[in-house]
Amino acid sequence: MAIFVVVGGTGMIGSKVVAKLVERGHHAVPASPSTGVDAVTGDGLPGALADAQVVIDVSNSPSLEDEAVLDFFTTSTSSLLPAEIAAGVGHHVALSIVGADQLPDSGYMRAKIAQEQLIKQSGLPYSIVRAAQFYEFIDTIADFATNGSTVRLPHALIQAVAADDVASAVTRVALGEPADGMIEVVGPEPIGLDDLARRTLAHRSDPRDVVTDPDARYFGALLSERTLLPGVKAVVCETRFSEWLNTVTS
Ligand SMILES: NC(=O)c1ccc[n+]([C@@H]2O[C@H](COP(=O)([O-])OP(=O)(O)OC[C@H]3O[C@@H](n4cnc5c(N)ncnc54)[C@H](OP(=O)(O)O)[C@@H]3O)[C@@H](O)[C@H]2O)c1
Repeated sequence: MAIFVVVGGTGMIGSKVVAKLVERGHHAVPASPSTGVDAVTGDGLPGALADAQVVIDVSNSPSLEDEAVLDFFTTSTSSLLPAEIAAGVGHHVALSIVGADQLPDSGYMRAKIAQEQLIKQSGLPYSIVRAAQFYEFIDTIADFATNGSTVRLPHALIQAVAADDVASAVTRVALGEPADGMIEVVGPEPIGLDDLARRTLAHRSDPRDVVTDPDARYFGALLSERTLLPGVKAVVCETRFSEWLNTVTS
């Protein structure tokens, strides 16, 4: 039976991917610092990868600060890929972000592009899943855009997506043949970042005021209305924002 190692398998997406693989009868092993595997230092990696056929990297940097996040994704990916080659892994799956290449002013996006480049150059068969922002991430976006009691965000359209749908897509990709390319995964409807934040905060009775501001930056980057929209071949997931919001405790 194929063994799937999920780096970041204790995180939001990772724990769902592990559960979905196990539900389908596969052997999936979470690998993260809390299970004794550190992709940055390499601690525990050779043992974790010993019998793996597929590695799914859905880890994330503990710090979102520009230098820390670049250091995290370059160091962890640079230690994972040779360890996978040494272990005879046949498919590396990684989770990146729709539009990452369009936002060089964002330190986080620069780090994801650096991660993607290392994977493409590694010689390992790979699939890069570029997902849109998760519905679950809108609170963090609003928090980063808050000054006092005001949230400033542009009306940039995104096809945000439920984390559970992303985990299903990552699982499907991991069970398939390596794409040696990108697969975009998005939600069903384009909604402005400002409106997503407005609806999320209203649902939580959060008193902050969301102001539409075309000059407001998104993690350091200026966005036009269509910068974050996917290409025509994107996989479109089903869960609508309103359906997801109804499942969230207000
Ligand atoms: N947020 C979005 O809207 C969005 C959109 C598209 C793509 N993505 C991508 O989705 C991925 C997963 O995000 P998430 O929100 O599920 O992350 P998360 O919940 O923050 O989980 C992070 C995971 O990374 C693990 N980790 C941290 N340091 C590690 C290390 N040194 N070695 C190995 N594992 C380590 C953590 O392990 P412990 O639990 O042991 O600390 C945890 O399992 C990220 O790569 C992100 O770029 C996010």
